[in-house]
Amino acid sequence: MSLVVTGATGQLGHHVVSSLLAKGVPADHVVALGRDEERLAGLAALGVTTRRVDYADPEGLAAAFDGADRVLLISGSEVGQRLPQHRNVIEAAKAAGVSLLAYTSIANADTSGIILAVEHKATEDAIVASGLSHTFLRNSWYTENYTGQLATYAEHGTVLGAAGEGRVSAATRADYAEAAATALLLEQPKPVYELGGSAFSLKELATTVGEVLDKDVTYTDLPADELTKVLVGAGLPEPYAAVLVDADLGLGRGELYVEPTDLEELLGRPATTLADAVRAAA
Ligand SMILES: NC(=O)c1ccc[n+]([C@@H]2O[C@H](COP(=O)([O-])OP(=O)(O)OC[C@H]3O[C@@H](n4cnc5c(N)ncnc54)[C@H](OP(=O)(O)O)[C@@H]3O)[C@@H](O)[C@H]2O)c1
Repeated sequence: MSLVVTGATGQLGHHVVSSLLAKGVPADHVVALGRDEERLAGLAALGVTTRRVDYADPEGLAAAFDGADRVLLISGSEVGQRLPQHRNVIEAAKAAGVSLLAYTSIANADTSGIILAVEHKATEDAIVASGLSHTFLRNSWYTENYTGQLATYAEHGTVLGAAGEGRVSAATRADYAEAAATALLLEQPKPVYELGGSAFSLKELATTVGEVLDKDVTYTDLPADELTKVLVGAGLPEPYAAVLVDADLGLGRGELYVEPTDLEELLGRPATTLADAVRAAA
């Protein structure tokens, strides 16, 4: 059995490779793909096969998928370029005759109005149209999107957002990765998993951060244009800030909310709690 993980040089992909090995998959059954030579070397040190490939290179993908039984396509990070890149991956997987294509999508991809969901929905449609047996791992937000900002929350005593009282089913990358590894190994994974942990509002996030850091941290809800200005003022490129604010508005509409059941089913345990993730990051 040859299991190919794309984006293995990334944070989620590295966790997936580690999870597969932890589950007892022999290292020579795992093929890790990415572009970054240094991180590919780090993966090779784990004993897995590595291949350098760009989603924009159909011939390279064909060579990388040679002999593949199952492929996990971790969505590319170049927003706006992802659909043609993902199409190349889908075509290469089909040409290689893989028996399963797993894809890391976004929560509620088929109904979400978030800008980021557009490429995910189009990729899902392309996978369905390919006729390949598939499983969509519709990940909600990463908890790390928040725990990566603990120092900023502590410095300003506030979490800024435009999500109102909306709740987000964030889970850690490690949990999503473990779930992806499990799905990849199931004889017949479900066609769609809506994946996320126990949901929290940004007000609850602020409270949890405050409790763990033993500081006063509150949530400040801003109009979208004001939050965009703050993020741009803090140095974010305007298009990136716009995508983040748009996601917060979607969060407010409940589009990053999912029940925790699918993630728990794949993990065989509850997901890591927000408080534990904040404690670990702190
Ligand atoms: N759910 C969320 O909250 C959330 C948040 C952010 C991102 N995401 C999505 O989840 C994906 C994985 O997250 P992550 O944290 O692991 O991201 P990451 O650390 O930035 O890793 C991205 C991975 O994608 C690979 N990649 C990007 N463009 C590629 C291309 N053209 N050809 C080949 N490989 C390419 C990168 O390879 P190299 O580094 O080797 O070039 C890297 O392995 C992201 O790409 C993004 O689509 C989700």
